[in-house]
Amino acid sequence: MALIFLLFLTIFNFCLNHGATISSARASRPHHSVTSSTDGMLQDQGIRAAYWPSFTGYPASSIDTSYFSHIYYAFVLPSPTTYALDITSDDVEKLLEFANATGSWNPRAKTVLSIGGGGGGALPGIFSQMASQAYSRADFINSTIKVARDYSFDGVDLDWEFPSNESDMSNLGLLFKEWREALECEASITKQARLILTSAVYYASNISFDGGPRSYLIQAISRYVDWISPMCFDYHGSWENFTGLHSALYDPHTNLSTDFGIGSWIQSDVPPKMIVMGLPLYGPTWSLENPSINTIGAPTTGTGPGSGLLVYSQVIDFNRENNATIVFDNTRISYYSYVGDSWVSYDDIRSIKSKVHYARARALGGYFFWALGQDLDWAISSTASQVGLCIWTELPEEPRNRPGPEENRPGNCLTGPGLGFHFGRLAVFGPVWVKPAKSS
Ligand SMILES: *[C@@H]1O[C@H](CO)[C@@H](O)[C@H](O)[C@H]1NC(C)=O
Ligand SMILES: *[C@@H]1O[C@H](CO)[C@@H](O)[C@H](O)[C@H]1NC(C)=O
Ligand SMILES: *[C@@H]1O[C@H](CO)[C@@H](O)[C@H](O)[C@H]1NC(C)=O
Ligand SMILES: *[C@@H]1O[C@H](CO)[C@@H](O)[C@H](O)[C@H]1NC(C)=O
Ligand SMILES: *[C@@H]1O[C@H](CO)[C@@H](O)[C@H](O)[C@H]1NC(C)=O
Ligand SMILES: *[C@@H]1O[C@H](CO)[C@@H](O)[C@H](O)[C@H]1NC(C)=O
Ligand SMILES: *[C@@H]1O[C@H](CO)[C@@H](O)[C@H](O)[C@H]1NC(C)=O
Repeated sequence: MALIFLLFLTIFNFCLNHGATISSARASRPHHSVTSSTDGMLQDQGIRAAYWPSFTGYPASSIDTSYFSHIYYAFVLPSPTTYALDITSDDVEKLLEFANATGSWNPRAKTVLSIGGGGGGALPGIFSQMASQAYSRADFINSTIKVARDYSFDGVDLDWEFPSNESDMSNLGLLFKEWREALECEASITKQARLILTSAVYYASNISFDGGPRSYLIQAISRYVDWISPMCFDYHGSWENFTGLHSALYDPHTNLSTDFGIGSWIQSDVPPKMIVMGLPLYGPTWSLENPSINTIGAPTTGTGPGSGLLVYSQVIDFNRENNATIVFDNTRISYYSYVGDSWVSYDDIRSIKSKVHYARARALGGYFFWALGQDLDWAISSTASQVGLCIWTELPEEPRNRPGPEENRPGNCLTGPGLGFHFGRLAVFGPVWVKPAKSS
């Protein structure tokens, strides 16, 4: 054991020191991250991921992995002083529970160790410091590989919410580069499958709140990261004094929509298959100022039920127990419900179906949920995964990446509202989630 550990240290020091050479050799040819790195792993249905919040008490052994290709462990944190992952005894307990649970999963979904989270506070500053110096990036990277291997993860994920200026963004680009190089190097030396590298990102490729305008470095992302996971939710919340849909697919009046965000990433030249779209299993709540003014944009006085947040299963219970009025917004493709002075924004089966149709129509890499334990008897998770299956079986057997005559065949799963209007039939049947060719 000690010997293996020593060997590990030697490998790492080597990888961190020599990564640069490896990368300059590679930089000259085009790089197709998802294709080359996750070959054989990308399934027909694309990436169907979900985060497991280790802190809620929802058992990892209860995850039904028939609905998911990847399960993210959320979260571990870097130390504010050494920048290596700070694995507390609570973390060890949860990491062991998670690693143990994977043994009972059927199928065995891939697992990804997620670092960070949306807690705010000091964390964005710690990431900023870590990313700003070569030595701290190396210590961080080194420790992520060690922890990921110790607990048999298949990959690592960064959830930095959010880089706060252009220098954070450029340091993040360096971090991705050095991280990927270290992962490649470690894999080639240990002869194991390379750990995948993913990152949760802002819903759009540019960020303008809380500081100056700043943009993610698309080149670094495209070259070094396997995929990004735009967080297509939290567009509105009880910090605002009016109601709003927190995860609208479209918005006729503002850029706070999933279509805007995903469009911005594509417009910035991130390959669509590297985009894994976020889907919420929770919703924000408000108290209405006047119960009879209850549309989108109605004035509010603060948080509603659940201190401002209900998870999907609670929303369904709340609606039923209170006989709430349920509204599907056919323009924005999301739901809200209200009763008395309570107002809730959420997604349900119909809007999730449309969003997954949208993801496929834009040929995205897949989708992810925040978070496991919030669904109601897998209703939403299974709906999302069936949308994938349904369209896939519509495609001709060979070649799979070309729309065939089937494009005129009516498919009962292609009736997502809004899609025909926005994309037309061809796009819906287009080359979506195609199994990557072995040679590219
Ligand atoms: C990598 O981490 C180990 C501890 O796990 C440490 O001893 C070693 O010095 C680190 N290497 C680098 C290059 O930071
Ligand atoms: C590990 O998993 C087994 C079943 O797969 C279970 O019986 C056992 O309690 C688990 N142990 C821990 C520490 O979670
Ligand atoms: C960028 O933001 C970080 C984190 O808030 C801060 O420490 C740093 O000084 C900022 N850099 C510039 C150039 O403004
Ligand atoms: C959204 O629009 C607002 C107002 O026009 C603008 O300030 C902001 O930069 C835009 N956000 C993004 C992500 O483009
Ligand atoms: C993001 O910002 C960059 C730099 O300011 C700009 O060129 C680009 O058009 C913006 N993209 C979007 C989608 O707003
Ligand atoms: C909501 O807040 C804005 C500024 O934060 C204020 O101008 C507006 O009057 C407020 N509206 C209500 C209905 O309280
Ligand atoms: C539920 O609300 C509807 C109208 O929204 C009303 O017709 C019905 O009587 C209500 N049922 C109960 C049990 O309150």
